[in-house]
Amino acid sequence: EKGTYPHYMLKEIDEQPFVLRRIIANYQDENGKLAVSSEIVNAVKEADRLYIVACGTSYNAGLVGKSLLENISKKPTEVHISSEFVYNTPILSEKPLFIFISQSGETADSRAVLVKIKEMGYPSIAITNVKGATLYRETDYQMLLHAGPEIAVASTKAYTAQIAVLSILACTIEDDCSFDMLNELSRAASVMEGLCDNKELYENLAKEYLIESRNCFYIGRHVDYYTCLEAALKLKEISYIQAEGFAAGELKHGTIALIEDNTPVVAIITQEKINLNTRSNIKEVKARGAAVIAISMRRLSAETDQIIIDDVHEKLTPLVSAIPAQLLAYYAALYRDCDIDKPRNLAKSVTVE
Ligand code: M6R
Repeated sequence: EKGTYPHYMLKEIDEQPFVLRRIIANYQDENGKLAVSSEIVNAVKEADRLYIVACGTSYNAGLVGKSLLENISKKPTEVHISSEFVYNTPILSEKPLFIFISQSGETADSRAVLVKIKEMGYPSIAITNVKGATLYRETDYQMLLHAGPEIAVASTKAYTAQIAVLSILACTIEDDCSFDMLNELSRAASVMEGLCDNKELYENLAKEYLIESRNCFYIGRHVDYYTCLEAALKLKEISYIQAEGFAAGELKHGTIALIEDNTPVVAIITQEKINLNTRSNIKEVKARGAAVIAISMRRLSAETDQIIIDDVHEKLTPLVSAIPAQLLAYYAALYRDCDIDKPRNLAKSVTVE
């Protein structure tokens, strides 16, 4: 039930710190160490390449997952959109392992890929929120998201839960994981809490920058680019503002032509090593009239409106930077009088191909 919340989406955004703590608790062994089943560890170790298959928000979580799996566990990983994979099947490695990410576990496009790869004899894992769902039943191995029921059509807590579960998978398959994942995830949960407590800021920024606008662009580099894709999906889906996420370095190759006076641009900057590059992109779009909001870990110049994120491990920043983006989308949709929990033309689980 949504209790005192006006919308399920807002309630589900607020639940994210608790969900993260529940995930940590559910993926611990008797010694309090993060763990996944030994069958899954073996299946991943035996594979020479991982193929993540998903749609929409789950696909965006898959992109972050690729970065975690490759950087933490050095496992080559590809991410594919389910509906493309069926007829545009990539050349597969010798020992592929498929990871299906799906909140509902019922998405027909993903199921079609599962049917195909099973015919080919390849193993699969489902990462899903719904125990007993189709993908859960038909895959060889399963990892649950423990996010609790997600009612709003716009996926929020399932997205961060997917990233959390993938990060646990990445560190548990790496024998010499130098990463204190348990501690870092707990820290991320506290930072999430702080971000959820700051609603007035997002509400004011959404009112000032987004509600009158026809379009909005998100720019970022590295994992922040993936967050931009998810942020843009969230905004278009519930507020009907045309939104796109761009790799900040690509602006000069075409996109910057779209910037006019007062075009909203949200810059996401969580990676220290590329923070100067994205900051110079902010200057470029501002020089062309853009109205910039920055979501970042460092304070930028006083003239830029900013949402500051407290420190979390640089590999886990997508867990927390998603929250301001979700809340900006929520307030934009609220003040545009949109049907937030049930946006037009969309269904919570997409059971047709
Ligand atoms: O249940 P799934 O995770 O398989 O659903 C995939 C997409 O349909 C879903 O993520 C969709 O993009 C959301 N409405 C986004 O908020």
